[in-house]
Amino acid sequence: MPVFNYDEAYSKPGLYWGREPNPLCLETIALYSAVDREGKRVVDLGCGEGRDVIQFAREGYEAVGIDISARGLKKAEAWAKEENIVISTIQSDLVSLRLGEEFDVVYSSGTLTYLPQDVRRAVFSNYKRFTRQGGLNAFNVFVEKPFLETPPDWGIDEHFYISGELLTYYWDWEIVRFEERILDCNSGGVPHKHAMDVMIARRV
Ligand SMILES: C[S@@+](CC[C@H](N)C(=O)[O-])C[C@H]1O[C@@H](n2cnc3c(N)ncnc32)[C@H](O)[C@@H]1O
Repeated sequence: MPVFNYDEAYSKPGLYWGREPNPLCLETIALYSAVDREGKRVVDLGCGEGRDVIQFAREGYEAVGIDISARGLKKAEAWAKEENIVISTIQSDLVSLRLGEEFDVVYSSGTLTYLPQDVRRAVFSNYKRFTRQGGLNAFNVFVEKPFLETPPDWGIDEHFYISGELLTYYWDWEIVRFEERILDCNSGGVPHKHAMDVMIARRV
């Protein structure tokens, strides 16, 4: 199994993931009214080329995007500039990164499978600690199902979650939403399916 080269994918013209924000981003934004969102801080972990971190910024958030790919972050910054929107970006590896400042929303889509199992307890405990009272953690993660084949473009640096695993890290928070879905995907040009857990949890 190879490692997917995001820098290479993001070096090509256009936007690899397109311009539309992820549904989880829109859903997370909708949980606060426009007035409540103003000045709130969000961090998008694994923001790629910025489709979600930019949407958060458009909606009034002070938005920070973190990714391991410098190429992705550069594209996100250029896109934000084009729209006259301010975002901050940080190049970092989520495996070793620990948050050191507080956010109202800690958000990640399509990225937390890059955290190996043995660091997850410490990592999620850090995300929780640096979420303000009343704030949200919103994540989706790929989960392993014995009846689904491993996707063709799955990398050796990706690690499935167990169904419901996210909930175990957030047992002491209010679970605003949790869902497991099976999705059709065509990444890499080969039709396949993913099982995905989606969770939004609130620090009470
Ligand atoms: C599937 S993409 C999702 C991108 C973005 N969230 C979106 O939905 O458009 C996964 C992202 O995770 C980033 N990534 C992979 N491993 C990482 C790591 N160890 N630390 C930080 N980012 C990582 C990749 O560069 C890529 O941008």
